[in-house]
Amino acid sequence: MPIIAFEGIDGAGKSTQIRQLSIWLKNRGHDSLVTCEPTHQGYGKRIREANPRLSPLEEREAFVLDRREHVETVILPALRSGKVVLCDRYYYSSMAYQGTRLSSYYGFFDEAAIDGMFEEIRKENEAFAPCADMLIIFDMSVEEALKRISQNRVCVDSFETRENLMQVRASFSRVERLIRATGKTEVVTVDASGDEATVSARLQSIVLDGFGRRGVVL
Ligand code: TYD
Repeated sequence: MPIIAFEGIDGAGKSTQIRQLSIWLKNRGHDSLVTCEPTHQGYGKRIREANPRLSPLEEREAFVLDRREHVETVILPALRSGKVVLCDRYYYSSMAYQGTRLSSYYGFFDEAAIDGMFEEIRKENEAFAPCADMLIIFDMSVEEALKRISQNRVCVDSFETRENLMQVRASFSRVERLIRATGKTEVVTVDASGDEATVSARLQSIVLDGFGRRGVVL
């Protein structure tokens, strides 16, 4: 059974949509496992609770350690038992977030050097983590994301500024291009603007098409 990874900027409603998709799959007779990164296990907790934030190098390493454990103890067993794995962020986030952070840490500013950094992170992870069959990137304008964040949260944290969201969105376009070039993962961008039901319908048709191309009947 496949792994579907979900990525994108914060505030795009990813987690709610993944839960809905899991119910929809269940109604069609497919068991799925919804899981996320960073995990809530040891390394994941350390990443989430780090204050101040881990250094760029420590953070890269912590995500790899968290992911190794996640792959070993959660993802592979679920695949073996025939479940579809719905992963709320995966190593594509490491490419986008750590790739960007490390690029500025090392002073890489030209496109080729940043691509190189992202690729290094991809390869480091693909050495132990199975590629997703589908990568679905939630996308929406920065204005819309900011509007949602301010409606849903008591306070907007400092990472969720306009500049930061623009940066993250650009990083995911880079990830999209690089992952598509590997030919190993189908990459689809979903327009996450609009109400919940509209986005759910878009997602279901993307998954139906993707499974159809793999010969899996939903
Ligand atoms: P997020 O999905 O927002 O988790 P939650 O909603 O439970 O807080 O993920 C937390 C942050 O972690 C998010 O801003 C992206 C970041 N992240 C990375 O920087 N690298 C990674 O490899 C992953 C998986 C996440």
